[in-house]
Amino acid sequence: MKIGSIINGDEMKPSKETMTVTNPYNNEVVAEIALAAEEELNRAIDNSYDTFHQTTKKMPAHERGDILLKASNLLEERLEEFAETITKEAGKPLQFSRGEVERSMQVLRFAAEEAKHMEGEVLPMDAAIGGKNRFGFTKRVPLGVVAAITPFNFPLNLTLHKVAPAIAAGNTIILKPAEKTPLSAYKLVQLLHEAGLPKGALNLVLGTGKEIGDPLVKHEKIHKVTFTGSLPVGRTIRKNAGFKKVTLELGSNSPNILFEDADLNEAIPSLVKGSFAFSGQVCISAQRIYVHQNIYESFLNEFIRQTEALTIGDPMNEETDFGPMINEDEAKRAKTWIDDAVNHGATIKTGGERNGTILKPTIMTDVKSDMKIIAEEVFAPIVSVIPFSSENQVINKSNDSIYGLQAGIFTKDIDRAFRIADQLEMGGVWINEISTYRQDNHPYGGVKQSGIGREGVKYALEDMTEMKFYGIKLNG
Ligand code: SIN
Repeated sequence: MKIGSIINGDEMKPSKETMTVTNPYNNEVVAEIALAAEEELNRAIDNSYDTFHQTTKKMPAHERGDILLKASNLLEERLEEFAETITKEAGKPLQFSRGEVERSMQVLRFAAEEAKHMEGEVLPMDAAIGGKNRFGFTKRVPLGVVAAITPFNFPLNLTLHKVAPAIAAGNTIILKPAEKTPLSAYKLVQLLHEAGLPKGALNLVLGTGKEIGDPLVKHEKIHKVTFTGSLPVGRTIRKNAGFKKVTLELGSNSPNILFEDADLNEAIPSLVKGSFAFSGQVCISAQRIYVHQNIYESFLNEFIRQTEALTIGDPMNEETDFGPMINEDEAKRAKTWIDDAVNHGATIKTGGERNGTILKPTIMTDVKSDMKIIAEEVFAPIVSVIPFSSENQVINKSNDSIYGLQAGIFTKDIDRAFRIADQLEMGGVWINEISTYRQDNHPYGGVKQSGIGREGVKYALEDMTEMKFYGIKLNG
């Protein structure tokens, strides 16, 4: 398969070098992509800018909603094709790829509904001295051209978390997907055009962060940049974006806290999934599990047992729970973090071995707060289990991080759960649920260096509009 950038509905032929997309499990070439030249990027931006002014900003809400709903229905018809595409390009086990497509269908439906609820408010103008006989109200209006830069780990759903609210709001979009996983984004653009989206409302540019991402973020015709990815790239985007609005969904080293009264029958299988789903390459993957000292041994033994029962193998197989990381460099990088921790006193309880792109599900103990596997985002199948003795201690340990995205607390004591949740420095806290759980309609985003802004369709849409004030002076 050969693919190119899509500008105003037309697919670009190779104008400079190409790049291959390979299946992380078996290294087979899945596609060849033509990288966009600078001239093509500029053409895409001009086209998006013109389409915004000529078309999408004038489109009624019901039309935007209908397109999004139709796209959801088309995606449902092609669920299997999209799931296989995700699995081939990202190495995600098929069962999780199917789940991703199902979530994507919902994101489109939520966006279709939100398109019809861009509400403003009537202001009590007479509350101010001199305000008598004045009438004021607000409207939410689209921004213009949104640059969406998306990651490899949810190549369809995290793309839709940017594209769907942008369409719902009446913006146009330049989409730059991760160069390792551009295929689902490419198919998505075609699907949205098929659903009736005006061609220039969504342009796709293929290329690297340096050659395409940087000039895109800096371009004066871009009104907003929305990015999901790593902290270093997020910092650069923040610096380069100038006065543009910016949403950044960055990393995390999510804590999960289990008190003595936690329901371990519920918590353990969820934590196995939450630590190792898609080889831990999820921003809210369970990275630190704090377990009360009185249940530490029994938790650890059962957690290891269930982890070792995971089926590791070809992600295209129905029964595979655990597959490769995105590429060998990433698997090697994660392995050096394990080795480094071991050299400083940590213990591998299971896993720790690497074979090509597969790094076995790894559970670590005897870790220290300055080890990379604790202090940084591992983005790999590595989880640490740490005992604690008091509420204050576990709160301090959980908050001892530059990140704060999502956390999980397990206890039957609701007063304690709220006490802890209130003190955790996080964008979101789940009670009796793992940090890795996410629904597509709740606000999602971090504090500290986990990011800026919120996604979750309704909240992303707010950030993709401007509040505009209208005032009228009445004559009596
Ligand atoms: C992420 O990795 O930030 C997204 C997690 C999800 O949507 O489940």
